[in-house]
Amino acid sequence: MPFYTKLLGAKYTKQVDKELRASHAGETGAVWIYRGAMVAEFISSLFRISKSKDDSERFIREHLETERAHLAIFESEMPLFRGSFILPLWIAAGFITGFLPRLLGKNWFFYTIYCVEEFVDLHYDEQCKNMSALSIPPSNVIERFQHCQEEEQHHRDEALAMMTQQPSLPMRLWGRAVEKGSAFAVAVAKLI
Ligand SMILES: [Fe+2]
Ligand SMILES: [Fe+2]
Repeated sequence: MPFYTKLLGAKYTKQVDKELRASHAGETGAVWIYRGAMVAEFISSLFRISKSKDDSERFIREHLETERAHLAIFESEMPLFRGSFILPLWIAAGFITGFLPRLLGKNWFFYTIYCVEEFVDLHYDEQCKNMSALSIPPSNVIERFQHCQEEEQHHRDEALAMMTQQPSLPMRLWGRAVEKGSAFAVAVAKLI
């Protein structure tokens, strides 16, 4: 194999590997967002006078199922890739991102999910564009990314529809921090 072909092949594999690692870390974090929210939901239910199940519990359960399915796609249907060395950190970050806002209230939680999914949608979009521009686009990977992206868009829209008031200034600031944090996490997960 000529040297430049080998070099091109290595660069290509590295690029796809990075995208898979970043999104695998993201989907792991997403599962833990909902697990964190589930714990907070349970804690707040202890202090609720009415014990009737509410809509946020259904929302959390359904979204958790979808995120687990996304994670399974990365773990069993994708080409082999190196996972992030700091997955426990993404798990902890995910847990806090779901737990804290749900403790603060439903609107805090739904707004957080809206911000996270808005970020994830744009990120999947960018990844699909980058991979489509490769010499041989990995269509199996791109198709699965697009499938996840469609469901994230649905999550985003559903979260927005569940809100009962406009986000307050502290909520907006938190949302910005979540977006910046997600962008930082993607950059780090691509490397380690
Ligand atoms: Fe997902
Ligand atoms: Fe999602």
